Amino acid sequence: MKKVMVIFGTRPEAIKMCPVVKALEKKLNIEVITCVSGQHREMLQQVLDVFKVTPKYNLDIMKDKQDLFHITSSILLKMKDVIEKEKPDLILVHGDTSTTFASALAAFYLNVPVGHVEAGLRTNDIYSPFPEEFNRRGVSIVARYNFAPTQLAKENLLKENVDEKTIYITGNTAIDALKTTCNIKVESPIFDWIGNSKMILLTAHRRENWGEPLENIFHAVDELTKMYPEIKVVYPVHMNPRVRDSANRILGNNEQVLLVDPLDPLYFHALIARSHFVLTDSGGIQEEAPSLHKPVLVLRDVTERPEGIDAGTLRLVGTNKTVILNAAIELMENKNSIYDKMANAINPYGDGFASDRIADIIDEAFSK
Ligand code: UD1
Ligand code: UDP
Repeated sequence: MKKVMVIFGTRPEAIKMCPVVKALEKKLNIEVITCVSGQHREMLQQVLDVFKVTPKYNLDIMKDKQDLFHITSSILLKMKDVIEKEKPDLILVHGDTSTTFASALAAFYLNVPVGHVEAGLRTNDIYSPFPEEFNRRGVSIVARYNFAPTQLAKENLLKENVDEKTIYITGNTAIDALKTTCNIKVESPIFDWIGNSKMILLTAHRRENWGEPLENIFHAVDELTKMYPEIKVVYPVHMNPRVRDSANRILGNNEQVLLVDPLDPLYFHALIARSHFVLTDSGGIQEEAPSLHKPVLVLRDVTERPEGIDAGTLRLVGTNKTVILNAAIELMENKNSIYDKMANAINPYGDGFASDRIADIIDEAFSK
């Protein structure tokens, strides 16, 4: 029996790792240990509840307005004890958060092999997204298995001289998660509030957008609602107080905008499906919305998901108020059929079987 420790700590990692946990649990020769850092608290628990995953360890490190020093150092130290106790044969981490980086570093220090799910995403700008581009590059240096979601991600790794034999193209496990969530019908007063209106779904939380960029985004949304009194905007606001304060101040009194607490993925994915289009600086939503045929205006200057831009479903608009507003107007007016083209593009992120592929690869490697 081989032991695989699956580590994650934030909402998006949980959404994309729970399908991997489930797929590994089906393997007879693998014992799966789930360890969460607790970098997120409520937002993590929402996902664990939906996917019915109960971690064996929760390092519970979150504190209010935490900084990068706190997250990285506390995870590194606490992870040491867990890894030394469990002595796993393999540690799996996901993506690019500080949980990902600190856990991979702890594994490296203790000489435990690392598998990296969602490997190879790059903007090639170390400051954007910050600190995620650094985190994911750091993991690529130590990973024994690189599970790249797309061909492009594989090419990014090859450019950094990562050994080709360690790279497997699997698709993105975000699409696997959608298969679970979108199969469950949900009801919510939010849908009553939307009624028959055109609804725009908004999310924003990135560190590099804190402060003025976030405020520009919120002012753009405010102006858009004034131009189109018939639209409604739903914004599940991230729990970060730095985000909540700006959102409440600028959008709190706008009757066309509904600010709600973070939603569990069942409700959130149902909202994507109900939306007209999505405004977001999120990473994961750039993968999910195309799969649900919704155009996405990406509130960032660069993206590590150019496949969605090439497919025609994502459009980078940055954080300038006028640019965001003009792009949203073009979608509202369907100028030159831009809405139709974006909505009908083909999702480039996989077929929903990435987790099974990852479990098969690990199982096979153990049997050699
Ligand atoms: C983190 C990740 C980011 C990822 C995002 C997903 C890092 C450095 N950042 O950023 O890559 O895109 O998660 O959402 O790894 N909070 C709560 N309850 C929660 C979660 C957060 O109260 O359940 C509040 C706390 O005050 C916390 C703050 O939000 O200090 C920020 O959380 P943090 O994980 O540091 O940053 P995120 O912006 O969430
Ligand atoms: N999400 C959710 N509830 C919300 C907002 C987002 O379940 O209220 C999901 C979303 O579907 C996606 C993930 O959270 O799977 C994205 O997380 P986030 O934007 O926080 O992080 P990122 O992907 O940018 O790292």
